[in-house]
Amino acid sequence: MWDQLWVDVRVATAVGGGTPFGLVEAAAVAVSADRIAWVGPAAALPAPPGALARQLHQGHGRLVTPGLVDCHTHLIFGGDRALDFDLRAQGATYAAIATAGGGIRSTVAHTRKLSVAELAAAALPRARALLADGVTTLEVKSGYGLDVASELKMLEAARLVGAQLDVEIVPTLLALHALPAEFAADRAGYVDLVVRELIPAAAAAGLARAVDVFCETIAFTRDECARALRAAREHGLAVKVHADQLSDCGGAALAAEFGALSADHLEYSGEAGVAALAASGTVAVLLPGAYLMLGETQRPPLAALRAHGVPLAVATDLNPGTSPCTSLSLALALARAQFGLSAEEGLAAVTRVAARALGLEASRGTLEAGKRADFCLWDLAHPRELGYWLGAGACQAVVRGGRVRAAATA
Ligand code: NIG
Ligand code: FE
Repeated sequence: MWDQLWVDVRVATAVGGGTPFGLVEAAAVAVSADRIAWVGPAAALPAPPGALARQLHQGHGRLVTPGLVDCHTHLIFGGDRALDFDLRAQGATYAAIATAGGGIRSTVAHTRKLSVAELAAAALPRARALLADGVTTLEVKSGYGLDVASELKMLEAARLVGAQLDVEIVPTLLALHALPAEFAADRAGYVDLVVRELIPAAAAAGLARAVDVFCETIAFTRDECARALRAAREHGLAVKVHADQLSDCGGAALAAEFGALSADHLEYSGEAGVAALAASGTVAVLLPGAYLMLGETQRPPLAALRAHGVPLAVATDLNPGTSPCTSLSLALALARAQFGLSAEEGLAAVTRVAARALGLEASRGTLEAGKRADFCLWDLAHPRELGYWLGAGACQAVVRGGRVRAAATA
C-alpha cells in the first residue's frame, strides 16, 4: 500500500522523448515515504484509488510538474545594490561600476560584516519566495566573502537556510568572483589563497559540492580560473563556470575542458565554445534576469546551442547586483520572451536539465517512479502556461520529499 495518492491531476512528467512535456492526462501520482512510487494514467491503476493508499488527495484537475530546480543563485548576501541599478539607469555600465569599487566589492563589504545567522536571516524571505513559486531544490553560491573565513561563513549560512526551510540547498564555492580590495596589487596571491587554503577547507568541511569561477575581463583570466578548477577536481568537487557574460573570453571552452556540469550566462560565446560544450556534455544555463537588468542586447547563441544539442537550463541567478529575482517562473518567462525558448524547452530547462546542471538528474527533475517526491500543483490548464504568466502566483501546493505544503507557506 502506498502512503499517498493524488488523483484527478494532469501530469507533465518532463521526461523527454515521449509525449510533449511528458504530459499524461487524467493521471495519478503515488508516493511512498520520500519517493515517487507510481505515475501514470489513473485508468491504469491496479485497483480503485481508495484501496491503494493510506491518504488520497484530490487534484481538482490541477497540473502537476516536477519540483522546479533553481540551478544558479547567489542567495546569500548582505545589503542590496539598488544604487548600482539606479546608476546604470543614469548611464554607468556594470563594468565601470565594478572597476570603480562598487559592484560585487560593495556587496562583499556588507556581507563580511554579518554573522552566519544574520546572513541566513537576510536570505530567508528570498528563499521562501523561491519555494512558494515551486522551487524544491536550489543551488547557492558563495562569492561575496572573498576571504577564507567569509567564504566558509556564506556556505554555512546556505546550509542553515536549507535546514531552516527543510529544502535541499546545493552549495557552490565561487571564490574567484571578484578580486578582493586587499589583494588589488597581488592577483596571484589571491588565487594562491583560494587554491591552497579555501578550496581544500571547503572540501574538507563538506561545505561545497562544486567550484564556480567568474571568467571575465573584469574578474579572472582563463589561466587563473583554470588553476582553481584544477584544484576543484583534485579535491573531488564538480566544476561550474560563469562564462562569456560580458565578452567572449573563452569561458565556454574552459568549462568544457574541465568537464563542467554547467557553463552559465554565455551571451558572448562563439561557435567553437558551443561545440566544446556539446562535446563535454556541459549544460548551458541561461540567466535572463541578468540579461534584462543589465540592459544587455546580445543574446546567448541559441541557434548554435540548439544545433549542437547543448542541453538548456534556465535559472534565476538571484543576486543583488544583476538579477534581484526571486521567482523561477518569472525567469522562465523572461527566457521564453527574450531568448525564444519554446514552452517544452522551458519546462525541461527548469526541471530535468536544471537537475543535470547540479549533477542530480538521477534523483530529481522528472516525475518517474524511484525519483524523489518533489512536485508542484499549479492552477494552470496546460504546461505551456508555465513561463507564460509574467511572474509567480500559479503555484498552489508544493510537495517536497513527500511532504505537502501550501505554496504560500512552502
Ligand atoms: O551571475 N556575473 C557574476 N556574478 C553575478 C553578479 C554578481 C553581482 O553583480 O553581485 C551574475 O550575474
Ligand atoms: Fe551568477
